[in-house]
Amino acid sequence: MKIMSGNANLPLARAIAGYLETPMTDVSVRRFADEEIFVEIHENVRGEDVFVVQSTSFPANDNLMELLICIDALKRASARRITAVVPYFGYARQDRKPGPRTPISAKLVADLITRAGADRVLSVDLHAGQIQGFFDIPTDNLYAAPAMAADIQARYGDQDLMVVSPDVGGVVRARALAKRLENAPLAIVDKRRDRPGESEVMNIIGEVEGRHCILIDDIIDSGGTLCNAAQALLDQGAKSVAAYITHGVLSGGAVAKVSGSALTELVITDTIRATDAARDSDKIRILSIATLIGEAIRRIADESSVSSLFD
Ligand code: R5P
Repeated sequence: MKIMSGNANLPLARAIAGYLETPMTDVSVRRFADEEIFVEIHENVRGEDVFVVQSTSFPANDNLMELLICIDALKRASARRITAVVPYFGYARQDRKPGPRTPISAKLVADLITRAGADRVLSVDLHAGQIQGFFDIPTDNLYAAPAMAADIQARYGDQDLMVVSPDVGGVVRARALAKRLENAPLAIVDKRRDRPGESEVMNIIGEVEGRHCILIDDIIDSGGTLCNAAQALLDQGAKSVAAYITHGVLSGGAVAKVSGSALTELVITDTIRATDAARDSDKIRILSIATLIGEAIRRIADESSVSSLFD
């Protein structure tokens, strides 16, 4: 087995390689003067089972292109099997046509990865489970929920908890977390969004008064959804609100928005490399899921069960 990485999230790739006690494959991923990407693998990969770790996070298009070119280099170097390990799958929110004459970019990206030569895909908390079906190759979708549940038990286990989905689309994810927290009660924020990047909280379904609320979502991008939901929960009498979000996209002024929000803390995983601002924020904590991804890779390489990781 070989672990290779693009430039999107080298600390995560190194942590995965460390868990697997496997040295990182010696590769250069560089730019020509005109910003074209060039990849050179400095060791033999012929016949190898290679895992390329690359989140397609900001800058999404550059990181996607790096991933595609890494896969192409591996294919042409006769790797036996190539797994695209894409902890954060960018473009996932474009998974359907929101109106006439619009693209389904998540499907296009899935096609690009497949066409480049990937044999398998491994991702974490895909925005929608059905994105697995956009790939015509085996696709494993890992869940951060067990790691989050363990952290919540350790930090907030002695409190009167309520799991909250910040929108109707996240109810399945929130219910799964609540189940892991000894069937904690569930509330839902009824969110309406008029324009991308702007959210407006309409209503809260569930009795949150006196509860310590745990908001769970797959993505925090502008932070609008989360910060509005936190404020709405407090307005309804919640005692406190913390948030657990798998992918810390944190665009624009999101870190400042979180710092100035009513949240007690925001916990994100390391699927996306945190910016300095996110690392320095005393409201943001990073939970590593490198061991989860490493263990899934080990099981894929050994051809043993990945789903049993979540039993
Ligand atoms: C939407 O369906 C996602 O699950 C997130 O709620 C959304 O992407 C968060 O975006 P923002 O932080 O910009 O409100």
